[in-house]
Order: sequence, then C-alpha cells, then structure tokens
Amino acid sequence: MPIQPPPTDHGTTMNVMTPTAATVTLSETGLTVPMPSGESAYFNYYWLRDNCPTSFSSVTRERSFDIFHLESAPKAASAEVAGDTLTITWADEEHTSKFPLTLLESYASGNRRADPADLPRKAWFSDHYPDVHRVSFADLQSDNAAKKAWIESMIVEGVSIITDMPDTDEALTDAANVMGKVRPTFFGDYFDVYTHINPTNTAYTASALELHTDTPAEEHAPGIQFLHMRANSVKGGLNLFGDGVAAANDFREIDPEGFKLLSEIDIPFYCEHDDYDMRSYQRVIELDQHGEVSGLTISQHMLDLIDLPQDVLDAYYPAFCRFGKLLQDDKYIMKFTLQATECIVFDNHRIVHGREGYTADSGSRYLRGTYTDRAEMRSNYRALVSEGRFKE
Ligand SMILES: [Fe+2]
Repeated sequence: MPIQPPPTDHGTTMNVMTPTAATVTLSETGLTVPMPSGESAYFNYYWLRDNCPTSFSSVTRERSFDIFHLESAPKAASAEVAGDTLTITWADEEHTSKFPLTLLESYASGNRRADPADLPRKAWFSDHYPDVHRVSFADLQSDNAAKKAWIESMIVEGVSIITDMPDTDEALTDAANVMGKVRPTFFGDYFDVYTHINPTNTAYTASALELHTDTPAEEHAPGIQFLHMRANSVKGGLNLFGDGVAAANDFREIDPEGFKLLSEIDIPFYCEHDDYDMRSYQRVIELDQHGEVSGLTISQHMLDLIDLPQDVLDAYYPAFCRFGKLLQDDKYIMKFTLQATECIVFDNHRIVHGREGYTADSGSRYLRGTYTDRAEMRSNYRALVSEGRFKE
C-alpha cells in the first residue's frame, strides 16, 4: 500500500502505524485509511465509534450503542489495517472496533446508501394498456416471485391490475396487505364509489371526473391507491389513467421555466364540508433525490384559491394551465373499462386518474377503494430482494 500524505484539513497528524500494515493516518477529528480501490478516505471518529459493528444488536437489528453516553469525544489511540480489516483502539475507552474495508468504502464518498428499491422509472403513454402488469389475486397470496414482480412494476411504472378478485370486501384488504397496511384517510379505511343521492364529492356523481390525484388536501396524501371494480354494467364511464412522469418529463423539455415554477412553488389544496376542513400546500410536480420527476399532485376539484402574490400568478397560472392542458393530451391517457373482478393499483402521487361521465340508470357501477403507502411498498420490495445488513 502506498504511504498516504498527512491530511491537511482535519488537524495535526499524530502517528503513523507499523510498517507491516497499510498506513493509517490519525488526526484530531478522524483518520485517513487506504481503501481497497487504492484511494485513501477520511472517516470521522464519531461516525466510526457510533457505527462500530458491535453497536448493533443481531437480535433486534437496531443500534444498541448510545453515543450520547460517551464521556468524551471519541478519538483513536491507534489504528491499523491488516488484510481487509481496519482495527481501531479507542482512547479513553476500553474498546476496539474492527471494520471490513468494503463497508467503509461504501460510505467513503458521502453518497446515499445503495437502495434496491431506487429503480429508474419507466414513463408510459396512452398505448400502455395491453402492457400493464397483471397478476392474479391468487398468485399474489401465494407466490413471492409474483409479489416481487408486482411491486417492481409499481415502482417502475406506477400502475398494475390485479385480476380474478373475489367479489368480497375482504379481497381488497387482502390485496392491499400484500403490499403494506391499509392507510386510512379522513374518509376512513375504505371508500365506496357509486352514485349518491347527496354527494359530497364529484366521484359520487355520474358526471365526468377530471384527471387528478387523490386527497391532495392531506399533508401526506396516501401513496398507493387500490380500486376494486365490484360491478360495472353502465353505459359510458370509461376509466382514464395517465402517467404524470411522462407528461412532466415532456413539460420539462417544452417549457423549462414553467416546469421550474410547478416544481418549486407550493399551492393550496382543500377539502371541506360540514364537519371537516382539510388544507395543505403541495407542489404540482414532485422531484426525487436525483432531481427526476417522481410524481404529481393535481386536482382541479380540490384546488383552493391560490394565495400566492398576484404578480407571481402572472407567470404561475399560465404555466399551470399549459401543464394541465398537456396532461389531458390523448398522447398520455389510457382509456379502458375496468371490468368487475379487476382491481387497478396505482401510485397516487404519480398516476393521474379520472372517469368519463356515465348514464346512472343504465346499469350498476360500484367501486371499492383503499390506500397503502409508497414507503411501505418499497420496504416490502427491499425485504424481498435483498439480504439486509444484519441478516446472518
Ligand atoms: Fe380519485
């Protein structure tokens, strides 16, 4: 291993280890150690002490060491690399830490921990319907490979259809439980969509329902929506689904200034009736940690009066309308009839959905819906595809 120059930005060099071991350079705040790649990397002493492999319980898999209980700032008395392990003997403490260099290397650059659920999204367009991922209810209940493929399609494409659903209330819960836990909204654990005599929501009428994401007035709107079609024999009422990622990616190309406004400025949404008054501020276009479009929040029937300064609206409103019109373009919208026995599952922060109007007395139409969350979906996916750090 090459001798590394002493650090210049972390304090004074204190000692250099034995000539038989790879050289570790100690400073006041941390140490510099050669990585398997040949590069040297600096690690802070607090980080090293807190993340000593002995800090974690193999039973609970949680951190069992509490750094707040250290009497003084952690500092190495000595450190050496032998083979593929860094060994640190700590000053002011009867403790030695041994780190695999491969573990240290994965944290050397300050990048986020690798995440198997951080899959690139695949934008889709109006012709996607034949290719929508389909899985039977029975396979989801019994087959881990089917479950993994299903969740993967939800992360990548944001939409899927469960077929052969039993015509029961429990079927929806059972399907949702494969991905997570039912996530209540202020409407409760479930909602039933059919025509109501005194509707409190446009969904409960036979009118057309414009493209939207659900419950934007909630501070954290639910992430995944399940709609189980229990009966559908009405005339009309085509289901409409569009990929917000596809539309927003195009908008970014066509109208970068408008994209910037819609992805940086929060606007108000509301949901109000006799005994509730839910309000939140959301960005129409949501970006992920990589700066990629990850979703939308949009709902004309739940958009509050925008309370931005009026001169900001001179630019915001035209951009908002340009995007809203783009989103309705036939290029993006799948139109089909969701059949009884089918349950469509979609990312409520990404996929806009709507419905054409239907003739209420032409037959029956009954949908039962519920939600789960995105984070729980990704958690289930990671558990299916990765070993985890602490599995033995
Ligand atoms: Fe909806």
